[in-house]
Amino acid sequence: MSAKPEADHVQPVRLADYRPTDYLIDSVHLDISLNPIATRVISRLSLRPNPAGVAGAPLVLDGGDLKPYRALLDNEALNLSEVSTPDRLTIANPPARPFTLEVETLLDPSANTRLEGLYRSGSAYCTQCEAEGFRRIAYYLDRPDVMSVFTVRIEADEREAPVLLSNGNPVESGEVGNGRHYAIWHDPHPKPSYLFALVGGDLGSIEDEFTTASGRNVKLAIHVEKGKEHRAHYAMESLIHAMRWDEFVYGREYDLDVFNIVAVPDFNMGAMENKGLNIFNDKYILAIQETATDHDYAGIETVVAHEYFHNWTGNRITCRDWFQLCLKEGLTVYRDQEFTADQRSRAVGRIASVRTLRAAQFPEDAGPLAHNVRPDTYSEINNFYTATVYEKGAEIIRMLRCLIGHEAYHNGMALYFERYDGKAATVEDFLSCFAESAGRDLGQFFHWYQQAGTPKLTARGSYDAETKTYTLDLSQATPPTPGQPEKKPLLMPIRLGLIGRDGQEIPLVQDNPASPREAKYGIFELADAQRRIVFKDVPSKPVPSLVRRFSAPVILDVDLDEDDLLLMMAHDSDPFNRWQAAQTLATRLLIRSTQLIRAGELPDFNPAFAEALGAAIEAGDADPAFAAQMAALPSEGDIARDIGSDVDPDAIFLARRALRSDIGKLLGERLLAVYDRLASDAPYSPDAASAGRRALRNACLDLYAAAHSSDGSEIAMRQFQAGANMTDQMAALAVLSAYATQQRERALDSFFRSHADEPLIVDKWFSLQAMIPEPETLARVKRLMHNHAFSLTNPNRVRALIGAFATGNPTGFNSADGAGYRFVAETVLKLDEVNPQVAARLLSAFRSWRNLEAGRRALAREALELVAGHSALSPDLRDIVARSLA
Ligand code: TRP
Ligand code: ZN
Repeated sequence: MSAKPEADHVQPVRLADYRPTDYLIDSVHLDISLNPIATRVISRLSLRPNPAGVAGAPLVLDGGDLKPYRALLDNEALNLSEVSTPDRLTIANPPARPFTLEVETLLDPSANTRLEGLYRSGSAYCTQCEAEGFRRIAYYLDRPDVMSVFTVRIEADEREAPVLLSNGNPVESGEVGNGRHYAIWHDPHPKPSYLFALVGGDLGSIEDEFTTASGRNVKLAIHVEKGKEHRAHYAMESLIHAMRWDEFVYGREYDLDVFNIVAVPDFNMGAMENKGLNIFNDKYILAIQETATDHDYAGIETVVAHEYFHNWTGNRITCRDWFQLCLKEGLTVYRDQEFTADQRSRAVGRIASVRTLRAAQFPEDAGPLAHNVRPDTYSEINNFYTATVYEKGAEIIRMLRCLIGHEAYHNGMALYFERYDGKAATVEDFLSCFAESAGRDLGQFFHWYQQAGTPKLTARGSYDAETKTYTLDLSQATPPTPGQPEKKPLLMPIRLGLIGRDGQEIPLVQDNPASPREAKYGIFELADAQRRIVFKDVPSKPVPSLVRRFSAPVILDVDLDEDDLLLMMAHDSDPFNRWQAAQTLATRLLIRSTQLIRAGELPDFNPAFAEALGAAIEAGDADPAFAAQMAALPSEGDIARDIGSDVDPDAIFLARRALRSDIGKLLGERLLAVYDRLASDAPYSPDAASAGRRALRNACLDLYAAAHSSDGSEIAMRQFQAGANMTDQMAALAVLSAYATQQRERALDSFFRSHADEPLIVDKWFSLQAMIPEPETLARVKRLMHNHAFSLTNPNRVRALIGAFATGNPTGFNSADGAGYRFVAETVLKLDEVNPQVAARLLSAFRSWRNLEAGRRALAREALELVAGHSALSPDLRDIVARSLA
């Protein structure tokens, strides 16, 4: 276990304090000799004064827990006790000319449980340097605006690590005697230290080739644990699709001779875009039908593309400082979302992105951890890899494109690549390219980056039958967030249409359109706090279909009644809003029922809604994946968020269970008919159409079982035992695990016995059980922590069991006696000694604690205070708990 950091209180870093470094590093030579407990690192830096810095300033290099044993400045030995601490190396008076600094340190990768810097995963060595992990390998100016050319020599025991990889292109390799060998890698593209990577191990691989548009040949390889090579093919296909797509859509070619991906079982996040050597959590690489669900396959396609796309948006053009994180992340998420939309279904892709945004980002924006997409200050940068930076960051790019149009968007991107290639850029730099390509000032649009909180968009319509005019009044307001009491109006695109009672689209006619894009595309701009739009020649009172495709990340308040929403569900030409109408109707019903239940009354039901849902499901053949999205009711988290305050998770659970049961009862055999009709004995294929059919079929079973638990469990048991593929097995097991039947324990036991030696499958088994909405679940989770397959040192295990309980089991986590809160708080404290980054993330499960009803709120506060009162917290955890309680 790593030593606890001493500094409990870290000085926050401020964007306003940015200044360039006083020194530049032109090149880096690393010579790394791998050993499980004593890895020797020699780093040779070629430095020179930065013309943009302060002449004669001291040189201060970052370190993280380093143990140097030799340092030379231009070949002259330095006194280490004078110049270095584990966290810093200071040269008080460096030469005013180019000079070299050579430092030798010893690392113990086996003791590194934080999984930052150099660590071991399985029998391999690997690195994770973003955001500030490089300083745990060598003293460095560890910040993204210091870009340098890296040459890396890796030496290792030949049997322990036959495969030796780093960034760039391979240069040379050979024997060194003593059973050791070496490899030299050179990366010609200057890069910041966070993109450095190294891997050594006895790995298996699959290989392929890619010829770029200009005819350059690239050798592709995916390296995995030996014996798992056959599970890497879908990832390889996804990579090739992503490479083609980036050429075709963005004109971006790959720029090295090789592209390597390595999959490791221990990883703090999803994956990492190191130049030419992406390192992945193996959950986002490994898939065959027996081990992975359709959802896993989709995740692989997206994450492989995301990391690949970073080669241009992140690596070639990187961030000036970590405040600009959204510059690479928001943009790259937008790019991977569009890639997925092109590979699969656009409407379903959009629905999935919006579900994620609402489930993860909206609560963040509404709670104590709210922050700008581009923050002004941070204490621990690891805590800013958030849904706000990633998902809201992507929404901003989407809005930008909607506002300026396809052509100006792509011209702006081309300008950005041309102007900032090889540089470390800011969000202002990025936006300036679009201001130029679109020929308009984007000053107001920039507020999206600088203002936290989700705007509320209110729309009220009135129809005048005399004059056949329809007047739409729009207004926006963003609630206060921590440190930001006042909000400015934002510039947002609102895509809209008017639907007639017959379900037909009504043409949008105005006297004075504000822009040609209004009538042509139905894209209206809201820039002020209010706007009135008057439509002419409207034959009858229309139903306004607003924020189509979710054109802006807002909370929409519009006075539609049930009939309007039913009409939209059936007829809106925008599939997103057909889905949205169903969600809105369900949410209203669920909130009403939640209130009734809290008042001791029976929940409400709306058969017309259930009928409409049944119709959508039965019409699902055209786009089954879309129908499956229609069938999925808002989650407990969605309902809690929409209720907003005085939240009672038990009442929400009961309301949702009642609605699902009522729908299942009303649709009954009709659901089974669809279930039977969609059965297939074709061989498994992960393609979107096949996955869509499985999703709809399993959604039917799930709804049916909600009203017929024993009959439904029987069908699920048959599906489970047929065991055709992991998707259908898991769907069946999920149905079985939701009801306290004997079959449940039998199925869970047999599932574990079949897959006990497959960690990624055991994770599914952990998660399912952690999410069982029964009071006994906490005891079950505690028991499972003692299962030999569980370990606090593997982030996937922690997320699968503890994370699933904290974020996927609202009644368990929020149990009225506070036991769930206490359990998560205590586990976070234990975890903090092992892996602060993962501990801090787990604690953000408390992000909405202030919205709870008073009893739970007090208990959640107690749990947070238990964490806050602990003597030696990591900076990561200290930051989250302090902001949560502030
Ligand atoms: N840059 C990575 C991505 O989004 C994210 C990431 C991977 C990361 N590992 C990390 C961020 C460790 C912080 C710490 O693609
Ligand atoms: Zn990313």
